[in-house]
Amino acid sequence: MCGIVGYVGGQTALQVVLDGLRRLEYRGYDSAGVAILTEDEIRLAKKAGKLSNLEKELQERGDQVMAAGNCGIGHTRWATHGGPTDRNAHPHLSADGRVAVIHNGIIENFAKLRAALEAEGIEFRSDTDTECVSHLLSLELRKTDDLAAAMRNVCTTLEGAFTLLAVDTRTPGKVVGARRNSPLVVGRGQGENFLASDVSAFIAHTRDAIELGQDQVVLITADSIEITDFSGVPVEGRPYHVNWDLAAAEKGGHEWFMFKEIDEQPRAVADTLLGRVGEHGEILLDEVRLTDQDLRDIDKVFIVACGTAYHAGLVAKYAIEHWTRIPCEVELASEFRYRDPVLDRSTLVVAISQSGETMDTLMALRHAKDQKARVLAICNTNGSTIPRESDAVLYTHGGPEIAVASTKAFLTQLAACFLVGLHLAQVRGVKYADEVGAVVDQLRAMPELIKKVLSEMDAVRELARSLAEEKTFIFLGRHVGYPVALEGALKLKELAYVHAEGFAAGELKHGPIAVIDQGTPVVCIVPSPAGRGVLHDKIVSNIQEVRARGARTIVIAEEGDEAVVPYADHLIRVPRTPTLLAPLVTTVPMQVLAAEIAHTRGFDVDQPRNLAKSVTVE
Ligand code: F6R
Repeated sequence: MCGIVGYVGGQTALQVVLDGLRRLEYRGYDSAGVAILTEDEIRLAKKAGKLSNLEKELQERGDQVMAAGNCGIGHTRWATHGGPTDRNAHPHLSADGRVAVIHNGIIENFAKLRAALEAEGIEFRSDTDTECVSHLLSLELRKTDDLAAAMRNVCTTLEGAFTLLAVDTRTPGKVVGARRNSPLVVGRGQGENFLASDVSAFIAHTRDAIELGQDQVVLITADSIEITDFSGVPVEGRPYHVNWDLAAAEKGGHEWFMFKEIDEQPRAVADTLLGRVGEHGEILLDEVRLTDQDLRDIDKVFIVACGTAYHAGLVAKYAIEHWTRIPCEVELASEFRYRDPVLDRSTLVVAISQSGETMDTLMALRHAKDQKARVLAICNTNGSTIPRESDAVLYTHGGPEIAVASTKAFLTQLAACFLVGLHLAQVRGVKYADEVGAVVDQLRAMPELIKKVLSEMDAVRELARSLAEEKTFIFLGRHVGYPVALEGALKLKELAYVHAEGFAAGELKHGPIAVIDQGTPVVCIVPSPAGRGVLHDKIVSNIQEVRARGARTIVIAEEGDEAVVPYADHLIRVPRTPTLLAPLVTTVPMQVLAAEIAHTRGFDVDQPRNLAKSVTVE
């Protein structure tokens, strides 16, 4: 939620900051703003709406002094406190105009801070929680001219989650940053340095990054980077090299990032699987701070995640229980800690998160750790908070996902979940290396099968265009097809803004079948007839039931499954796969369907309304 960029160096700060914001717009896009330090003042521009509104305003203004500045900050917002208006857009100036601040997160004690500042006669010019930080910082700077020290003092008075960046007119050529529970990375350049919510903002300039820890303050100039903790003790950040390039974050010739990300799925899944098998056939995770004995002692698994990642967890439950024989529960991360789950040392909590910054998932993880449970993260974002706070990590290596709604993240999360299940089964001796090897081989065949599905999507696109005006969609599945149905419905809701619901097919007759009307599109995910026959036969009956009530059936079924043909108004074929791995192929047509309907309806496929890529508030 919210993207932030800071820059000091020899280039035009305005341009560097705007370029960075463009790459961070996926984090929030309801307003944007920049503050550029000139010789003796801050030049500010902010505008509600997308970044293009701000750019237009800057062009009209033609401020040459602003354009010449070499030090500045910029923000793209996803509103929390205060509506998405010009006045609530960041940066926020202090009352004396000395300091400009941008912020990602929520200052939970802002009402108290605001009341105290107002009692001192400070007039607020916005409804945001952020503005109080700019006033507090300028008050601190009356006591010290050390910008980093002033920021540290302010941070100790704040509660909640924040990444803050600030510039001060009396401290030229410096940007200060601070982080607690929200992301901030440093980009180290030659005679220039950067601060940003993530590396995509600065990889056009440098791939050398430094990861900032929790409760740390960083001060950058063109030639230096100084990091301290909140008490002022110098600390070393963790340097790392970003190994994906700018092209990976660009659209690669596609109209939308999402179309590109859907197409990238074979490669992304292959990368998740790459290098996962050790010389003795063992599954390798990326970071393991747990012993094999710790994993052998596990007697219960909880998966915590949100949205699409939660759906990946629901699929994982089938695989983990089947392969390990350990009970596995899947919980919405936002509910987990409120219902007092039974956790102890022998519980493994698996946190799934593309961004690694989702606050609901992070809080569930922390709750689990407080109760002494072991935590394993499945994550796409190297160095983000969730993997850093976990006992073991498996990175999905899916590359940057820019479109707000997840596509390749889901498939790579599925692949990673399967690996975790196999790892647990192997360490616990439930499966031998050759049995694990056989499943790994099946997994390794999946990218080619996903590629095949993608090569046959023209008919699905055409179907999508014919469905673009429909108002309600139903998705049905059984077994692992049930979470896939939920995911199909979620994709359609968030991209095309139509009512869509996913159901376990067997549940339909217990109520939801009442909504089926003449022509209602019902997407049915059919399991392989070669798997458990009873599962297949049951869903074929369910398809007949909805069709008898007028539904227009869109059936996703395996090649060679002739039993579904008489009941399918539209048939989408997928290649034969082992039952548990089928979601890796059956999900793809639903992603294409949703994206194409949204595109046909003229919506922004990459940045659907009301959403943000990284949800860093609870
Ligand atoms: C839906 C979607 C969201 C995310 C959810 C969790 O397309 O993208 O539902 O899956 O917000 O995000 P992460 O995986 O970053 O924790």
